[in-house]
Amino acid sequence: MAAPVLEARGIEKHYAGFTALRGVDLAVRFGMVHGLIGPNGSGKSTLLNAMAGSVLPDRGTITLAGADVTRLPPHQRVRRGLSITFQVTSIVAGLSAYDNVLLALQARGSWPTLMRSGTRRGLHEDVVRSLRQFNLLHQADSIAGGLSHGEQQWLELAMAMATRPRVLLLDEPTGGMSIEERRITGQLLARAKEHTAILIVEHDLDFIRTLCDVVTVLHEGAVLDEGTPEYIASSEAVRRVYVTRA
Ligand SMILES: Nc1ncnc2c1ncn2[C@@H]1O[C@H](COP(=O)(O)OP(=O)(O)OP(=O)(O)O)[C@@H](O)[C@H]1O
Ligand SMILES: [Mg+2]
Repeated sequence: MAAPVLEARGIEKHYAGFTALRGVDLAVRFGMVHGLIGPNGSGKSTLLNAMAGSVLPDRGTITLAGADVTRLPPHQRVRRGLSITFQVTSIVAGLSAYDNVLLALQARGSWPTLMRSGTRRGLHEDVVRSLRQFNLLHQADSIAGGLSHGEQQWLELAMAMATRPRVLLLDEPTGGMSIEERRITGQLLARAKEHTAILIVEHDLDFIRTLCDVVTVLHEGAVLDEGTPEYIASSEAVRRVYVTRA
């Protein structure tokens, strides 16, 4: 098995009188789409944010490409190859799709990325590659705010992938999408996994089953179970949590 690109070990997070994460281990590996599921409030976003650096864990370590980054701020993790998208979109509505990706590349780009694509032509090629990857090349000149809801979320993914991250963290990237848009998103992400390791939080279990190679289930801030989607679908412990919830 490939070495982890991003690894959380023994992560604990406490908020005044409340424990959001109680010793979570999770390893994201290259070539895999890793699903993170669990009921509302089980700690999924907190774990993602701890890995990205916007939440400081009270205990445990985060390792990125072999280096301990537990105390590094988000932008320094981004420079080391981490990319994250949030439920709240970060696109600039008044700019074209093209300029949004260009901006993301310039703002978030690691030094190696900027050196490689430091010329105007290099940047242009990276923007075009990223737009093409998410079926948005024909919309390059369109104002981002005028794109459909689904297209805006794909633009967000194109922006996140523009810097050629080693690992991409996605928090509910299909929120509000139609069934057809979800299907397309699944295909786009399945292709993206050739270039980056992916950790994805999703409520849609069918989506997770189709896309993911491995799934971790969180429950009340702890890992309840982990394995292939087939294994998770047959896990008695997981079934119990989801049945009591429904
Ligand atoms: N800043 C905070 N202060 C206090 N409590 C918090 C804070 N952030 C998260 N929590 C609590 O920690 C728990 C886990 O929250 P988290 O957002 O990680 O859950 P989640 O699994 O992402 O849920 P959802 O599926 O609803 O997105 C929740 O009970 C939440 O209320
Ligand atoms: Mg969440």
